[in-house]
Amino acid sequence: MKTLIKGGTLVLKDGEKKADLLIEDGKIVKIAQKITAPAGCKVIDAAGKHVIPGIIDMHVHLREPGFEGKEDIESGSRAAVAGGVTQVCCMPNTKPVCDNAVVVGYIKNRAKEVDLCKVHPIGAITVCENGEALAEAGKMKAAGAVALSDDGKSVANSHLMRLAMEYANDFNLKCLCHCEDAALVDGGVVNEGYNSTVCGLKGSPRAAEDIMIARDIALAESLNVPVHICHVSTYSGVDIIRSAKARGVKVTAETCPHYFILTDDIIIGYDTNTKVNPPVREEKDRLAVIEGLKDGTLDCIVTDHAPHSLKDKQVEYNLAAFGISGIETSFALSYTHLVKSGIMPLCALCKKMSAVPAEILGLDGGEIKEGAVADLAIVDLNEKYVIDGNKFISKGKNTPFNGFEVYGNVKYTLVDGEVKYGE
Ligand code: DOR
Ligand code: ZN
Ligand code: ZN
Repeated sequence: MKTLIKGGTLVLKDGEKKADLLIEDGKIVKIAQKITAPAGCKVIDAAGKHVIPGIIDMHVHLREPGFEGKEDIESGSRAAVAGGVTQVCCMPNTKPVCDNAVVVGYIKNRAKEVDLCKVHPIGAITVCENGEALAEAGKMKAAGAVALSDDGKSVANSHLMRLAMEYANDFNLKCLCHCEDAALVDGGVVNEGYNSTVCGLKGSPRAAEDIMIARDIALAESLNVPVHICHVSTYSGVDIIRSAKARGVKVTAETCPHYFILTDDIIIGYDTNTKVNPPVREEKDRLAVIEGLKDGTLDCIVTDHAPHSLKDKQVEYNLAAFGISGIETSFALSYTHLVKSGIMPLCALCKKMSAVPAEILGLDGGEIKEGAVADLAIVDLNEKYVIDGNKFISKGKNTPFNGFEVYGNVKYTLVDGEVKYGE
């Protein structure tokens, strides 16, 4: 099976190049100025469009098994490819929790049946994510888990977390740390600050996130093992990570579009689609997150795609579920707010959304070059559209970005050289 992508601008590691790209048996076999289509070859016209490495979103919630009303592996995969995403890593806060090899195997098998994007399960750090006993990391790794996380919460017991990091490292797995001191959050639902007071909503202080970022870095540093910090939202958290990196700690970190685009001004109006954990914070946090992305303190961009059903969100703010459905809008939002606004070049954004996550987790892909796997998206950077959650393919229509005008529409997504999204 051969496919020729003609006339597009390829986004390579260090810049852009107008060239044709030939795919054979799922691999990029040739990149050249002009390639004539071999006999029987499918041709995709990419004139005026950009060909980017397929996005690798290392932090999503696919909800299956157990919460299929919110999302399932099929709907989440469909949403992913519509967003230019070719690989996802899914968090284990399912029902049952993905804390054993059987659930890891189930997710992998179901994803294979669905056959859209590549799905890599993340195993839980502790049994049932309840923070009491370590889950079977080795068996989960053997079944295909690519990392460990108790996402949704932190492992409160520092001794257990230290053992987890040590044990994970023995199996060449990283802990992806959701950083939140639950006692300090104490039921907070938004960022603690002026707006939480004005709205009469209980605030969650930055310190609740920062304490756990600092703790997990301290543990990793003392053990000399790698650690990855999830969804960084605070200016102070960015600083903690920056200084740890300067000391040589093996720490990597991610953030999400909502943390570099929004501030907690959006909670005024009580739209529960703005409720997310950690909460969207203030302008100085937003600017520090952008600075962190620019200077490499924040290595990658993920969505924390957290789809919820209407009934989980159409309730009082205090009762609503935390989370944003983000996988279909991450490229357009990131492109619009980071590249079009002049903060970073397109190739740098693509690295943060593809090559770097691949490197952090040791996954194949992330780069357009001869010999590489043909996981690609073709995007029209000039095509403008207005985000409307009701049009999402994901079951989760919960976005705080309704009405936002963005550039960068995904036209095609190819996984292993096969068109999984597009005409
Ligand atoms: O907002 C969030 N939603 N944060 C999390 O940590 C978990 C996630 C979810 O599972 O809904
Ligand atoms: Zn989390
Ligand atoms: Zn999450």
